[in-house]
Amino acid sequence: MDVTLPLPLLGGLSPAQFMRRHWQKKPLLVRQAWPGVRPPIGRAAMFDLAGAEGVESRLLTRFDGPLDANMRLRHGPFTRRSLPPVSKPSWTLLLQGLDLHWQPAHDMLAPFRFVPEARLDDLMISWASDGGGVGPHLDSYDVFLLQVQGQRRWRIGPVADRSLVPGLPVRILANFQPTEEWLLEPGDMLYLPPLWGHDGVAVGECMTCSVGFRAATATTLAQELLHEIADSLEAPDTGDAMYRDTRQGATATPGQMPAGLHEFAEKILQRALADPKTLDHALGVLMSEPKPRVWFEPGPHLAAGSGVRLDRRTRMVYDAWHVFINGESFVAGGRDARLMHGLADQRQLSAAECHQLSAQARDLLGDWADAGWVHASA
Ligand code: SIN
Ligand code: CO
Repeated sequence: MDVTLPLPLLGGLSPAQFMRRHWQKKPLLVRQAWPGVRPPIGRAAMFDLAGAEGVESRLLTRFDGPLDANMRLRHGPFTRRSLPPVSKPSWTLLLQGLDLHWQPAHDMLAPFRFVPEARLDDLMISWASDGGGVGPHLDSYDVFLLQVQGQRRWRIGPVADRSLVPGLPVRILANFQPTEEWLLEPGDMLYLPPLWGHDGVAVGECMTCSVGFRAATATTLAQELLHEIADSLEAPDTGDAMYRDTRQGATATPGQMPAGLHEFAEKILQRALADPKTLDHALGVLMSEPKPRVWFEPGPHLAAGSGVRLDRRTRMVYDAWHVFINGESFVAGGRDARLMHGLADQRQLSAAECHQLSAQARDLLGDWADAGWVHASA
């Protein structure tokens, strides 16, 4: 994608301008961002999917009055009969990760590929009856809220007071003070940076797609990285040396921590991070890890001479040394690396490009096809 070309999706801004002016900074409302957009899934199929194991679904109802205090939350899977009638106002069904389960939803992510893959979380879809919504809240995500069917009234505003309505199953802002309000029609889109308060209420039957981008928190990232790095330390060359204190004398202060233990701990941490590739490796593995509850079905063997495309569930990223796919890493260089980077960026390689790969890299593609991570394309 040429990120300097203006896009209707971004209201005539180029991705480069959008990222500079709005990303993580301020909201953007785009009227007719996606003219003629259609819901990636129909209502009946969506309700069916909400009944499937492995699909994360939530049902929020506000039946006993308009107040947020009446909000009830249930988690799926839901049989069709356990969902309220569509004619009943004030309920909403939300399906997380629709892009993993439903190809047309995955395809809707393509125009947003000016944001790094490592930041992408998922496409969530919501169906709501009149008056339905999740209430005023904030997310720690960047999100594009695309109206795909019917109308939704959005009220948004910066959040000065983060206190929540107590005793609710969902995090609802107690003192939300919206500063702007819009009625979104099909094709309209609202971008919100993290921590902006928002409240979307369906006006009649409505469907909204949320393209969400995750941001790692310092604590979680540190935990996951250290765990990943510790795993890689078990390699025989780094050695899992044991702490030894041959010169420890008898102590009259057994409660005191031995200085040698501090030095030992410091040394292993320093050694673990001494090679910058170790951190890059751990980061790439984490960022390409498939989402929880994702599994792949083994695929047909890749025929010679075919191109490939990534399965919709596959996550693929790269850095200067490695290519990462679904939590596994490969060292790549030269032409193979360039082609594999193309596969990660475009999510596909033509037959001609596959032909340029080394025999070793083509074998790898074959393994990935067997695992169901990539599929043959025309
Ligand atoms: C919705 O689609 O109802 C909610 C989306 C959001 O507020 O993040
Ligand atoms: Co939200």
